[in-house]
Amino acid sequence: MPVSRREFLKRGAAAGLAAAAPLPGAIAAPAVRRSAAAQPVVVSSMNGNWYKNGGPVTCVEKAYAQMTAGGDVLDALIAGVNLLELDPEEDSVGYGGLPNADGVVQLDSCCMHGPRRRAGGVAALEGVRTPSKVARAVMDQTDHHLLVGPGAQAFARGLGFAIEPDLNTAHSRQAWLEWKRRSDPKHYLDPDRRAAADRRVLDSLFEDRLLNSRVVHGTINCNGINAMAEICGVTTTSGLAWKIPGRVGDSPILGAGLYVDGAVGAAGSTGRGEANLYNLSSYLIVENLRRGMHPKDAGLDALRRVRANTVERRLRRSNGEPAFSLTFYILNARGEHAGVSMYAEDDDYRGWAGNTDRGYMKYAVCDRNGPRTVQCEALLPGVLRTES
Ligand code: GLY
Repeated sequence: MPVSRREFLKRGAAAGLAAAAPLPGAIAAPAVRRSAAAQPVVVSSMNGNWYKNGGPVTCVEKAYAQMTAGGDVLDALIAGVNLLELDPEEDSVGYGGLPNADGVVQLDSCCMHGPRRRAGGVAALEGVRTPSKVARAVMDQTDHHLLVGPGAQAFARGLGFAIEPDLNTAHSRQAWLEWKRRSDPKHYLDPDRRAAADRRVLDSLFEDRLLNSRVVHGTINCNGINAMAEICGVTTTSGLAWKIPGRVGDSPILGAGLYVDGAVGAAGSTGRGEANLYNLSSYLIVENLRRGMHPKDAGLDALRRVRANTVERRLRRSNGEPAFSLTFYILNARGEHAGVSMYAEDDDYRGWAGNTDRGYMKYAVCDRNGPRTVQCEALLPGVLRTES
């Protein structure tokens, strides 16, 4: 119905008043207030201080340098994770990420821009090496937050992204072929038997050094804050290795694989996506930050909830504790940060990030002191070991 000029002005004035007054149910003021100035820092999963795609710097170094040179925080973080997406040596992200059960690489990613309060994501995207850039395009160029499968690919094609017929590398294809050859041909076993069969196949692939076990759930999450306390984050992955085609994990889901509140902080994840999806842990962590918790406590609280919700026997070790790895990378609006992991050590991480004989869970940091990899705070002491 057309609105008269008088009605229009009346409504406008009312809207102005409404904007000035606190909205009913408005979000509580954060206990961690965005400061006028912050110590810039970038944090990520430990692979963020490992891969360089043949260049001189790692993800966290690149993102930190670009951000502190005045670049947009999210642009800088995406430039950082692009190194891993494009690196054929990184089996858990982008090009060369381990494929699904049909041998097809399907990628997930999302990103959030704190100051702009915008977000975008893609899931089960095939053919594009850098899903984080497509996630960013969903954020910038659509009214939506998540595009999936062929729709996401058509969107990327329309924007001029190169669509490749196959994102496998020789290595990821060989690993998949071996997995296929060794696994039970009756693929859809009941969950218990399937998990046990998968575990046996994976262990044999690890033993034969065809695969590094870290990459089965591998992902990168990378979050940053600049000197103006602008906070952004991005998560990108090829998801669970050998997943049922179409399976989407936590990585592209806002509140699960990533959550950013520009006034409060950022959190993102790596590890068993299903455990995180069920609990929407990144959202919980950012809400914990809002209540004033330190990043470490905010993250450990979320892990406690995951642990409490892990009731199925197939997901528990013989001592009743979770039988999987889950790690969060957290920073608040003061630039304080933490990595928190379910276990202090994970056998799958031996040989990573300076680890030799021990598989310490670590995360990557870059600030004015340069890039480094530091130990996560663990909810549970000891080592996560496979039990057959
Ligand atoms: N966290 C990555 C995944 O489960 O897909």
